[in-house]
Amino acid sequence: MIFVTGGCGFIGSCFVLDWLAAEKEPLVNIDALTYAGHLGNLQAVARHPNYTFVHADIRDAALMRDLMLQHKPRAIVHFAAESHVDRSIAAPLEFVETNVMGTVNLLKAAQALAESGDEAGFRFVHVSTDEVFGSLETSDPAFRESNRYEPNSPYSASKAASDHFVRAWFHTFGLATITTNCSNNYGPRQFPEKLIPLVIHNALRGQRLPVYGDGKQVRDWLHVSDHCAALRAVLARGQPGETYNIGGRSELANIDVVRSICATLDELRPRATPHADLIEYVTDRRGHDRRYAIDDTKIATQLGWQPAIRFDAGLRSTVQWYLDHQDWVESVTSGAYRTWVEQQYPSMRHS
Ligand code: NAD
Ligand code: TYD
Repeated sequence: MIFVTGGCGFIGSCFVLDWLAAEKEPLVNIDALTYAGHLGNLQAVARHPNYTFVHADIRDAALMRDLMLQHKPRAIVHFAAESHVDRSIAAPLEFVETNVMGTVNLLKAAQALAESGDEAGFRFVHVSTDEVFGSLETSDPAFRESNRYEPNSPYSASKAASDHFVRAWFHTFGLATITTNCSNNYGPRQFPEKLIPLVIHNALRGQRLPVYGDGKQVRDWLHVSDHCAALRAVLARGQPGETYNIGGRSELANIDVVRSICATLDELRPRATPHADLIEYVTDRRGHDRRYAIDDTKIATQLGWQPAIRFDAGLRSTVQWYLDHQDWVESVTSGAYRTWVEQQYPSMRHS
């Protein structure tokens, strides 16, 4: 069986659902159910015979070790993290505690299992981000695995630190670790604090659509189910000690993403005036990275993976998912969500 951490979040829940649909192997999901984790994300598999949920915090080192030695998984796919850049600017320490300390706890627990001799083929797949490489100029080549680490936000610094610890556990203790550095994901069940679901959420309520700075920052967008397919390929065929960049071959400026969402909504849910009228340029994010881009040559040539979902089709199906799942949106946008929005977007009107 395998362990997954953070399986109740956006990417982790997609991985768990796809895994249980495609594989016969049991999966244990360890999640602390922070504001970003929702049991409802995995309602459909709650009683699946191959699924076990453990409500636990990766910051609890002793518990992580006990769970590892009790279940003896053959692999762990580690998603659990604080994942939002804006929150890392507001409250950086939580990012150190979960992303750095939590990852080290899991590495130590996995090392204890490996050294007990119970799991010879053990794999530790660490799910990280392209943001560890810093920011690109328009004319720079895309990130390769060999790029220097130059994290700029507390979030990316905490992920970079965790990547370094993962590397150290391979070199020092011989733990079979693999790190993936992926670009921006989008798709169903993404918490509406991130750009795409936030814009859909606000647009459906006739609220302003906040675009930071000039809106010309560029991100590479990958559909979450493509990311999860890449992770399954990495788990099956990736080489211990290696890192793999994962991207969507879809670089877009934020303002173009926002305009595409507006155009899709104009079609699927027309209102009296175009949704784009709701766009409002707001104060830029502090230290805002200008551009991220992925060179996926390594994973494409060595593991035979490439993205399958084009951004326009993936965005349309994502917008449709949010239209069809407003009950999910209501259930995750609690009082705590409203407090965050009021704190993060003080100049905007809130309803
Ligand atoms: P998310 O914020 O949606 O979910 C995080 C999950 O981790 C939640 O279920 C939460 O409850 C859980 N969690 C948080 N702290 C925990 C703790 N201390 N102990 C146990 N569980 C805890 O995140 P996501 O967008 O699904 O991202 C998953 C991983 O992928 C993260 O490691 C992130 O850095 C990485 N990543 C995300 C993106 C993206 O675009 N979202 C891109 C590249 C990499
Ligand atoms: P986000 O979804 O937070 O992901 P990341 O910061 O990890 O790339 O943001 C994506 C881009 O959208 C980023 O350049 C910041 C920008 N953005 C806005 O312009 N307005 C917003 O309200 C948010 C949340 C993000």
